[in-house]
Amino acid sequence: MRARLGHVTVTLWTNATVATMRGGSDEYGLIEGGAVALDGETILAVGSCNEVRTMIDADAELEEVDLDEIDLEGRLVTPGLVDCHTHLVFAGSRAAEFERRIAGATYAEIAAAGGGIRTTMTATRAATEDELVAAALPRLDALIGDGVTTVEIKSGYGLDLDTELRLLRAAHRLATERHVEVVPTLLAAHTVPPEFAGRADDYIAFVCDTIIPAVAASGLAGAVDVFCESIAFDLDQSRRVAQAAAAHGLSIKGHTEQLSALGGGPMLAAAGALSIDHGEHLGDHDVDVIAEHGTVVVLLPGACYFTGERQHPPVEAMRAAGVPMAVATDTNPGTSPLASLRLAANQACVTFGLTVPEAMHGITSVAARALGLHDRGRIASGARADLVAWDVDHPAELVYEPVTPRQYRRIVAGSA
Ligand code: NIG
Ligand code: FE
Repeated sequence: MRARLGHVTVTLWTNATVATMRGGSDEYGLIEGGAVALDGETILAVGSCNEVRTMIDADAELEEVDLDEIDLEGRLVTPGLVDCHTHLVFAGSRAAEFERRIAGATYAEIAAAGGGIRTTMTATRAATEDELVAAALPRLDALIGDGVTTVEIKSGYGLDLDTELRLLRAAHRLATERHVEVVPTLLAAHTVPPEFAGRADDYIAFVCDTIIPAVAASGLAGAVDVFCESIAFDLDQSRRVAQAAAAHGLSIKGHTEQLSALGGGPMLAAAGALSIDHGEHLGDHDVDVIAEHGTVVVLLPGACYFTGERQHPPVEAMRAAGVPMAVATDTNPGTSPLASLRLAANQACVTFGLTVPEAMHGITSVAARALGLHDRGRIASGARADLVAWDVDHPAELVYEPVTPRQYRRIVAGSA
């Protein structure tokens, strides 16, 4: 035998049904009787139990291998789930506005009367970073309990420089309080704050000239989002935000075509956005433009459910055009107080018409792509070791029965 080069500890999950989420949107990439081997933060091998053992044996020729073997007794293994669109960090509650909406007021009416996002802004500006972290933890715990290993968190309830930075810092803090990866996004262009009332262009200039440069310099966020909507910012204002983001090396995302069709989706897709989100009012031409640019559309069925929105995104047209569709919770105080990604996947199937494999890709492989993260969302050798083992034997169970906890083990970057 040759001299050994080093010493590694390999974790080996055996006797699993592995949903690799490789292949097309109509398949789970299932391996029955499968195994996954992990070396530190990285997946070393995935395949049948025999294939993976053969690889480890080959490795053992070169290195001293300590095997930490876990027999999953037929349980399902999936990539860790990715919630690619949340507004998890905020203060206060909008339950009173929910009561008004149920009694007949619309979301847009409440926003026009100074409520909605601005109600949450007032509570958030008054909150300390510690209070924001404490308020977000129960929601984060719910997502973690649901199998989430990566969560995007937007700012957008500060609408001034100090509070937007505080929200982003709170988002980073959450990743130190819990074993989860947080991907923070700047959403200063969420609505016009009261001090800029009637001066949306001036606020956008402040966002572009002051907030985006400060956030880029701080490294607190890697992407910039904008709410392109009749009750928020028009197409030109949204374009300026996208241009400022790109000029500072930040990725672009957009809330577009949620309540009306302003053309934000195709405009941001052409500007190189990672994703355009919502999309209820996308038309056929918009879908073609988005498909041409390979932009992910993030579906947020929780927001339609909570606002009673009957206009649903054009899923059939997007499928036909080959648009990658992600699914996220949109967890937020106004339109989607919903901290369950599996429930969002269920809603995407029941109300939007996604197939179950599409919904599973929507919360794994395509969700990772919506964040520009190519190292996760699939189980493949070399990918980041974000994995969940579930007390079920088929991936459809996760979407079919979304509220029942089914998590057996959860690993983020190789550690439990
Ligand atoms: O994704 N559309 C804008 N932002 C959120 C709602 C924010 C709020 O009402 O607090 C959304 O639906
Ligand atoms: Fe949102």
